[in-house]
Amino acid sequence: MMRKIGVLTSGGDSPGMNAAVNSVARSAAIYGIPLIGIKRGYNGLLRKSTNIKDDLQELHLETVLDIADEAGTYLRTARCLEFKEQAYREVAVRTLRAMEIDGLVVIGGDGSFNGARCLCEMGVPCIGIPGTIDNDLGYSEMSLGFDTAVNVCVDCVRKIRATSRSHDRPHVVEVMGRHCGDIALTTAVSTGSEIVVVPEVHWSVEEIADKLNRQLAKGNTRATIVLAEGCFESMEPFDLYGFLTSHGKPCYENEPMSAVRLASVLKRMCGMVEVRATVIGYIQRGAEPTARDSAFAFEAGNLAVRLLRDGISNQVIGMQKGRVMYMPIEKALSCEKNFNRDLFNLVNSL
Ligand code: F6P
Repeated sequence: MMRKIGVLTSGGDSPGMNAAVNSVARSAAIYGIPLIGIKRGYNGLLRKSTNIKDDLQELHLETVLDIADEAGTYLRTARCLEFKEQAYREVAVRTLRAMEIDGLVVIGGDGSFNGARCLCEMGVPCIGIPGTIDNDLGYSEMSLGFDTAVNVCVDCVRKIRATSRSHDRPHVVEVMGRHCGDIALTTAVSTGSEIVVVPEVHWSVEEIADKLNRQLAKGNTRATIVLAEGCFESMEPFDLYGFLTSHGKPCYENEPMSAVRLASVLKRMCGMVEVRATVIGYIQRGAEPTARDSAFAFEAGNLAVRLLRDGISNQVIGMQKGRVMYMPIEKALSCEKNFNRDLFNLVNSL
């Protein structure tokens, strides 16, 4: 029997984290298990603040009853680098023991899951719920926040395409995703964007210019080029400074390629009057969760509590073939992320 359960959100915030906490709280209440909210990810367990309420908070049902559809995370979040060190994890275990917390629900990405795996090895039962907009976890078809982030991007790209059409000018749009191109690819597919560039596929500036030229030759003067923020890591070397300065555009020496700079280069390579750029940024993370994210959060939150109650731990919850499932953390972390290359090729070939 669990005396108490703890729940924390960790890593970059993602829409749906609140919905998951709400579901954990409702389930814990039904099973009669007191729930403690741990603030700012693993930091709350390291007891850094002088006021205990800034680290740990008893989560009564009324407190979290209305947060399910709220953006952000009520519990706050952080990336806790100290948690990679055993000495700090020992502090965390002592806090858990002192608080009589016998099981932990960790909502976050792969770094957070690694922390949970270590805690399990130290005798603290943990269950992970995937919470990251990046959708970069190989074992699960979706992670909380991905669908919402894509919907924000789709909304933005539709607006961008409307103004691009009015002005007959191409547009470069950068979305988030860290090393994963899923947000970019799904956004491109869902908006009819003509070109998508991702970290998973090697590319060159000249190749993107060729693709844009093909669109222009077809009479499409307002093509959209969707970039995943991590795509510059798979770009062929390009002499940005040399190219821009030789075309009369000032540029810092050694300046890295960016969405704005790529737009500048494409404008000159393709002989356009204008190519504009937009970086969508943090609004991707700050939206209220979509129905799909909320529904997944609801199921995952309940399953996490049931697993702990039934003495099952060291597992992460995910989605496979459209169904909520769970598997050992270690196995999940070793699953390679499968990027949909066929869909990527399709977008770029039409
Ligand atoms: O992991 C989620 C994410 O939004 C990434 O897409 C992005 O690269 C990163 O977090 C940004 O992190 P921060 O909030 O620390 O700037």
